[in-house]
Amino acid sequence: MLARVVALALVAGQASALTLNPLRLFKRGEQVAGLNNLLARRSVVKYADKAVGSDVTTKALEAAILAPNHFLSEPWRFYLAGPETKAKLCGLNEDKRAMFEGVPEWLVHDLSEKLGLEDHAAVSCAIQNFMLSLADDGVGSKWMTGALGAAPEDVMACVGAPDGEKLMGAIWFGYPAKDLADDAKSPPRKKGLDGVLTKCA
Ligand SMILES: Cc1cc2nc3c(=O)[nH]c(=O)nc-3n(C[C@H](O)[C@H](O)[C@H](O)COP(=O)(O)O)c2cc1C
Repeated sequence: MLARVVALALVAGQASALTLNPLRLFKRGEQVAGLNNLLARRSVVKYADKAVGSDVTTKALEAAILAPNHFLSEPWRFYLAGPETKAKLCGLNEDKRAMFEGVPEWLVHDLSEKLGLEDHAAVSCAIQNFMLSLADDGVGSKWMTGALGAAPEDVMACVGAPDGEKLMGAIWFGYPAKDLADDAKSPPRKKGLDGVLTKCA
C-alpha cells in the first residue's frame, strides 16, 4: 500500500512538474524523459560552439516528414548546409556575418507546391515538428525569413534549390549558449487565448 501511495505521489509530482514548471527539467545537451518539448521550444539566437550530432538532426527530419499533408503531397524540401554552404549563407549579408557565423547549423526549408495554401500549411507543420524534436534533445532553433536581410532567391541559390521551389525559411539550430531552462520564457502572446478564440454556439 505504501509503495502504491509513493508511486502515485511520484507520478503526480512528475505531472505537475511538467505542466507547471517544464523549465526546471531542461538542461543543455540532456534528453529528459517526458519533457514537454512544446513548452521547451523557444527561438534561440545565441548558440554554443558545439555541433549537433547527425542522429539528432536525422531524428528531427524524420519527425518533420511525419507532418500532416493533404493527398500525401509531401511538399517539403530540406537543404542541410555543410561547411561550404554555410560559408555561402554567412556571406549573404555582411552586416550580419558575425551573427550568422555563430549559428552552428542551418536547414533551409523549401516548398514544392502543388496544392497552394494546403502545401504551405503542411510545410509549416513539418518545420514545427523539426523544431519540437530538436527541443526534445536540448537543441535550440530559430525560424528565419526576412531578418536574414537577403532575397529568398539568393538563399535558395546558396543551397542549389531548383526553380519552382519557394523559400519557407532558414532554420537555425544548435545547442543554446544558455540553458534553455534559463531562456525558455515564451514571449507574451498579446492577444492571449481570449483574443483569438470564439466559442461558437
Ligand atoms: C514564418 C516565420 C518566420 C519568422 N521569421 C523570423 C525572422 O525573420 N526573424 C526573427 O527574428 N524571427 C523570425 N521568426 C521567429 C519568431 O519571431 C518567433 O517565433 C516569435 O518571436 C515567438 O517566439 P518563440 O519562437 O520563442 O515562441 C519567424 C517565425 C515564423 C513562424
